[in-house]
Amino acid sequence: MEFVEQLKSSVNILNVIGEWVRLRKSGVNRYTGLCPFHSEKTPSFSVNLDKQFYYCFGCHAKGDVVNFVMEIEHVSFYEALKTLAERHGIPMPKRSQYSDEDSRLRGVIFQMHELAQETFRASLAAGVGEAARGYLAARGVAAAAAEQFGLGYADGSGRTLVRLFQQRSFPATEIEQSGLVRKRDDGTFYDYFRNRLMFPIHNESGKIIGFGGRALTAEDNPKYLNSPETPIYKKSHVLYNLHRAKEAIRKEDRVILVEGYMDAIGVAAAGFGAVVASCGTSLTSPQVLALKRHSQRIVVNFDPDAPGANAAERSINMLLDESMQVRIMELDGGLDPDEYCKQRGAAAYQGRLEGAKGYFYWLADRARARYDVHTTEGVVSVLKFLLPAVQRISDRLERMTVANDVAGYIGVDRGMVLDSFRKAVADRRESALVQPKEIVRADEKGLLNVLLSSLEGRERLIEDLAGIEILNRIPTRRIYQAVAAVHASGALPTFDAVRSRLEEPDQNLLAEVVLSAEAEGIAISLDYGRQCLERLRRSEGELRRGELKARVKEAERSGDQVEALRLYRELVQMERSGELPG
Ligand code: CTP
Ligand code: MN
Repeated sequence: MEFVEQLKSSVNILNVIGEWVRLRKSGVNRYTGLCPFHSEKTPSFSVNLDKQFYYCFGCHAKGDVVNFVMEIEHVSFYEALKTLAERHGIPMPKRSQYSDEDSRLRGVIFQMHELAQETFRASLAAGVGEAARGYLAARGVAAAAAEQFGLGYADGSGRTLVRLFQQRSFPATEIEQSGLVRKRDDGTFYDYFRNRLMFPIHNESGKIIGFGGRALTAEDNPKYLNSPETPIYKKSHVLYNLHRAKEAIRKEDRVILVEGYMDAIGVAAAGFGAVVASCGTSLTSPQVLALKRHSQRIVVNFDPDAPGANAAERSINMLLDESMQVRIMELDGGLDPDEYCKQRGAAAYQGRLEGAKGYFYWLADRARARYDVHTTEGVVSVLKFLLPAVQRISDRLERMTVANDVAGYIGVDRGMVLDSFRKAVADRRESALVQPKEIVRADEKGLLNVLLSSLEGRERLIEDLAGIEILNRIPTRRIYQAVAAVHASGALPTFDAVRSRLEEPDQNLLAEVVLSAEAEGIAISLDYGRQCLERLRRSEGELRRGELKARVKEAERSGDQVEALRLYRELVQMERSGELPG
């Protein structure tokens, strides 16, 4: 494990997570943000600098920097180590014990994609790429944009990549799994992409994971051919251009969503870098979560035709489910985003962007165009049409504002709109049962933090824990037991050491205890630890007195006067000794 420890100590968790999640400082050692692993409106995801650990109070995702990379990139332990090592210039041990078969295969497929990309780019620049270059020129794609987006050309021979991969001695089974070639019935291979303009598709960390290939002529079908799903490419998780756009998305706190590769390139080339494309499929929840890590504000700018509008309509509910703030941007003249930027210019596009409507007005417009609001049936239909979106507004005040606006917009009675909205929301709200949670006391929390964080506190206090009975009854008891066990083994009870001894629910509790102390700004000192210990001791007395009182009552009730008296004397004794100073 030596390498892992070395890696963890030379990588700062905040920098790594900060690349994926917008974080805000919320304590001396604590940063918070929206959890990248589940849907939420208010931040419950915390990163603790001191412990180099993250934890989500909502979904209980947690771990160290390696766990984070594994979860967010969907990669194996080995691949996470490799990614972190590469990015921080730390040499990885050669024949690594951490590698597994899956990771190795994925590594090889990444290599094949790199090779394919080099080949496609070289072909676009060479003689064979003349028609493709002509196509780009005709569509007004500048050489700089083609370069920036890594565009290439797959020649029509059908054997360029096959040959290259065989020359490099990749095994046939791996070549087949790359998605870049196809197998004939006789077992021989041919290139999947032939005579196409190639768009490399990257994952969020910028590695090529697949390609889209556009036909150069209208006769060639399909218009786009895309990589199949492979061990490194999962279509529903990817947004085109996100790795380039994410910085701008954060800076501007807004993302523009378009449908096509060409749209993303055209819009970006016009100076709007914060643009991603959904690649023509309906938006998925992993894609929305990926966007939400960088900004919650989205402008949907789909094609002006009916399929584009329908896709926008579908995407609204998905986006609202992840509590994104949605606006819809419409372009006039029947132009798609790419054409609009080229024909009308960046300033015109900027104007449209600024004028983008809140999704509700856009939906209401669509409803008005579809139904006759002068009839009762029409109004009912309009309201029905709007309900799915309304049900997704969780904030009551916001819902009322929207109801008000909608009423004015379609010219019906406010009360009626509000009424129908209210019913819809009541229908949808699940009876979310909250589990009662044991309450962690301030003193048990405080003492635990001192034991985990202050060397002096640990040395002075740890031996005293043994005699305190109440530590076996409080919610954090198993954490205290783990601290004692680690200490008894002769090791330092560090956060990691204690955590590794706990089961899942107690790991969550540990994270909560540490992070909430951080949030409350508790001073972790020996003195504070002593105070907590004293308070625990005292409350232990109260606890025992309470129990004794109950037993006295019990004995009286069962008629055992002798026993009742004996217990009563014990109780008096205890109360007396409790009153003595010390
Ligand atoms: N798409 C696809 N397969 C198709 C058609 C479209 O995968 N047969 C995806 C592509 O990702 C494409 C997107 O859907 O970029 C949007 O489709 P479309 O608007 O037709 O393509 P554009 O990118 O706008 O390309 P162009 O402007 O060249 O028509
Ligand atoms: Mn298009």
